[in-house]
Amino acid sequence: MMENFYITTAIDYVNGAPHIGHAFEKIYTDILFRHFKKRIDNCFMLTGTDEHGIKIQKTAKAAGITPKELCDANSNLFKEAWNLLDISYSKFIRTTDDYHKKTVQDIFEKLLEKGDIYKHQYTGLYCSGCETFLSPKDLDEEGNCPVHGKKPEEVSEENYFFKLTKYKDKIIEHIKNNKDFILPEFRANEVLNQLENIEDISVSRAKSSVEWGIEVKSDPSQVIYVWIDALSNYITGLGYSVDGNHDENFKKFWPANFHIIGKDILKFHSIYWIAILMALGVELPKSIYAHGWITIDKNKMSKSTGNVIAPKTVMEEFELKNPDALRYFMATAAVNGKDGNYSDIDFKEKVNADLANNMGNLLNRTLNMLVKYFDGEIKEKFISDNELNQKAANIQKEVENLFDKCDIASAANCIIGLVDEANKYVNDTAPWSLAKEGKMDECGKVLYNVLNLMVKIALLIEPYCPNIAQSMANQLKFDINLKYTEIQPNMIKPGKLISKDEIIPVFLRLDSEFAANKK
Ligand code: MSP
Repeated sequence: MMENFYITTAIDYVNGAPHIGHAFEKIYTDILFRHFKKRIDNCFMLTGTDEHGIKIQKTAKAAGITPKELCDANSNLFKEAWNLLDISYSKFIRTTDDYHKKTVQDIFEKLLEKGDIYKHQYTGLYCSGCETFLSPKDLDEEGNCPVHGKKPEEVSEENYFFKLTKYKDKIIEHIKNNKDFILPEFRANEVLNQLENIEDISVSRAKSSVEWGIEVKSDPSQVIYVWIDALSNYITGLGYSVDGNHDENFKKFWPANFHIIGKDILKFHSIYWIAILMALGVELPKSIYAHGWITIDKNKMSKSTGNVIAPKTVMEEFELKNPDALRYFMATAAVNGKDGNYSDIDFKEKVNADLANNMGNLLNRTLNMLVKYFDGEIKEKFISDNELNQKAANIQKEVENLFDKCDIASAANCIIGLVDEANKYVNDTAPWSLAKEGKMDECGKVLYNVLNLMVKIALLIEPYCPNIAQSMANQLKFDINLKYTEIQPNMIKPGKLISKDEIIPVFLRLDSEFAANKK
């Protein structure tokens, strides 16, 4: 078993408020984090905000405030949103934090000293949306940036450049030799193709064009360009130091097990970041996982289309008491690196089917039968080894294997598949008929088997739905913080389990009126 586990999200730009695309990634990462906390003792999750660059400078100017004021206000919106979604991160980093700025300056100087960064007069096409120079090959037929649909600006400057080409062969070799380095695996070829055409990259901008950035220590006329600044967060957040005097967290948690990022920024992570780490002589992360994108009603989310949805809006419109339903939907909406879609109707149907009708209902009716037939008591003779125990053990293994590859949607399907099996088992064995026929021991065994299985289901579903799982644990009287290694075949002990007034539905169906009234 791994001793320590470190997972990161991309850090979000703060020129706007968080939307459900940003939320998708933070939920995705938090689910992985919570799952691994059940398998590994020491786990750390880093998230945060990426606050420098020309876009922030322009937005702040237009709003008549300082860039820092804009960053403070918007960074807080991200923190509030993650709070609302029960994102249980260990640390929130802001690239305007002093310790981060200092280490980024040191990193830049170290690479300069090493000769991996050099000064060069350059004319290029700059996309402020991507905060990067694009080559003519990157543009679409109309000469626009394919991601932002806008013509890049022609910029001529003397900038610092990083010798990316020096590391090309080493990166190719690393990707080819490490199958899990880029996940899902189908993305690795994409990166290998991009590597064919790489050039050295600009890593600073003249202060005269961009003021809002970290100054180059030895040349204050230049600011460090956003990607070196942003990518370094993964190590500065742990207390990395160029002189080797690292904080405990860096020693304990680096290299990262997973960098979770969107497919649009895979190149920056699997090529630029890796080359920077190689240049610094820092160990490489174990895996970079690129997730797909979420569309809204099948359209790309954009301010101009006016279809940007905040996670808070979904919570308010459906009057959700906690974020579990949204977390569950997001986790299953985009399967293993593919794109996914959010619509109110799909959301409601999916969570009603899986969380209310299937899982919640099964627990509720089984507990009610236990109270009705046995006054809520588990008798010793109800407990025996049964087929559901073996099935649960198999599913647990499968879920763990899927999480090792970050495939949380398929893992959720496995868990719900186990609930389906349990529902089928109840329907086939019909405990209500057994009770009617006076076969009370058989009836008790069926109820026990199902409730005992629900303990395991709650532990497996907890990373997705922590509140629902806690409510299941309250009713089934076990500790939701148990590790997966502590799962035994028979988890529920004999004795009084529950009384009628303690039974509460763990998830109420979302009212069908909501979606109908909205459009
Ligand atoms: N600041 C950079 C990342 C630096 S990481 C060292 C950035 N910021 S972003 O705000 O544009 O995006 C942050 C993350 O949100 C990215 O991983 C991006 O892919 C993800 N998403 C933004 N919109 C999204 C969707 N509509 N759907 C899913 N993820 C989306 O890039």
